[in-house]
Formats: sequence, structure tokens, C-alpha cells
Amino acid sequence: MEILEFKIVGSTNDIAKKLGTKGRKNILIVAEKQIKGRGRNDRTWVSNVGGLYASFVLDKSSKLPLVIALCVSETVNQLLSSEISEIKWPNDILIKGKKVAGILCEGYKNFDIAGIGINVNNRVDLESATTLEKEAGKSFLLGDVIHTLIENFQKLMNEKNVVQEYRKSCKMLGKKVVVKLQNEVISGTAEIDEAGYLMIDGKRISAGDVIRVM
Ligand code: BTN
Repeated sequence: MEILEFKIVGSTNDIAKKLGTKGRKNILIVAEKQIKGRGRNDRTWVSNVGGLYASFVLDKSSKLPLVIALCVSETVNQLLSSEISEIKWPNDILIKGKKVAGILCEGYKNFDIAGIGINVNNRVDLESATTLEKEAGKSFLLGDVIHTLIENFQKLMNEKNVVQEYRKSCKMLGKKVVVKLQNEVISGTAEIDEAGYLMIDGKRISAGDVIRVM
């Protein structure tokens, strides 16, 4: 995996798109800071120095969102030496209910992008978010985070039972949840199917936000 490092960018996903369009693959774009960091559902991803902002450009794969969520969750666990993180569908990584990382996957004709934001040593003011530094009481080298991330990615791309592994880390599965869809809010028991779609009482959900877990 080739790593391309930048200081300040708009969004690493945008650089990834440019390079992917030119045929580059199996690369990881990393930036120290983003000034137009993007989150899911057109949200902004505040990207100050100290956090990890990175985007993989990869061959198309339907299992990518699950692999990346597991990869980031395992990376967080290894850096904190504890099985502490959990996945909130589709790919938020939480520690004790607070968000420590988010993932923005984007698909194009010939390649996929997985953009990853991990709160490492950056300051976060949101009550609903945390950082690795806050959790560990010490700061981390971003190089170590990148290294761990790539190692986990390479291991998990070869994992046969990604869905099974994802189920273990996604603690809301089997519980009653409330999900906000584009035009409605629904509730029911959460499961995921073999393709990674959320299933709420048998209804297949491809995009939405889980707003409550009972
Ligand atoms: C989310 O939780 O809404 C997803 C956040 C994804 C943020 C990362 S940071 C690196 C990459 N570049 C972006 O502009 N977004 C993703």
C-alpha cells in the first residue's frame, strides 16, 4: 500500500477521487488537516491538526464498508490495548457511546474510496465525541495509527467471515433501535444481512441514522 502524505487539503476523499479517476489504486491519502472535511449525509467533518484524516483508493468491493468499520474499530482497540470500541451501523466507531471515528465510503465506476477520520490528539468540543488521547491519557504518533490501520485493513480484506466479525463488534444488533430515514422514523429489532444492509424487523435499510438503541 502506497501512502501519499499532504499537509493541508480540502478533503482527502476529493484527492482520492482525482487519483482514482487517473487509474491509481491501493493507495492511502493522508492529510494533517482538512479545510473541507466531509461526513455522511452532507455533514461537515471538523478536521483540525492532531486527528487522522485518510482515504483509501481501492478496487470495488461490496464488503468494503464492513471491512473498513471493523478495521477502524480494531485499530482503536489495539491502540488503547482494550476491546473498548463498538460499531454503530453503518460505520461510526464509538467508545462508551461517544464517537471516536467516522467513515465515508464513496463508490465510483472503477474504484471505491473509504475515507476515515479518527479523533486522535485533536481537540473535540462535542459532548458526544471523544479522542484516543482522552481515552488513554496520552498522545499517539499518527504514524503508528496509520501503520496499525493498514495492517488491519490487509488482514481483514482476506477475512472470510467479515459479516460475522462485524456482528460481534456491532453491539446494537439484536436490540430494538430507532432509525431516522430520509422521510420517516422507524423502530424495530436491528439485524444486518449478508450484504451489510441494516434489517429492521425484516425491512432492508440502505441509508439512515440509528438515533436510539433500547
Ligand atoms: C461521518 O462519520 O460522517 C464520516 C466522517 C468521515 C471523515 C473522513 S476524514 C477523511 C475523509 N475525508 C473527508 O472529507 N471525510 C473523510
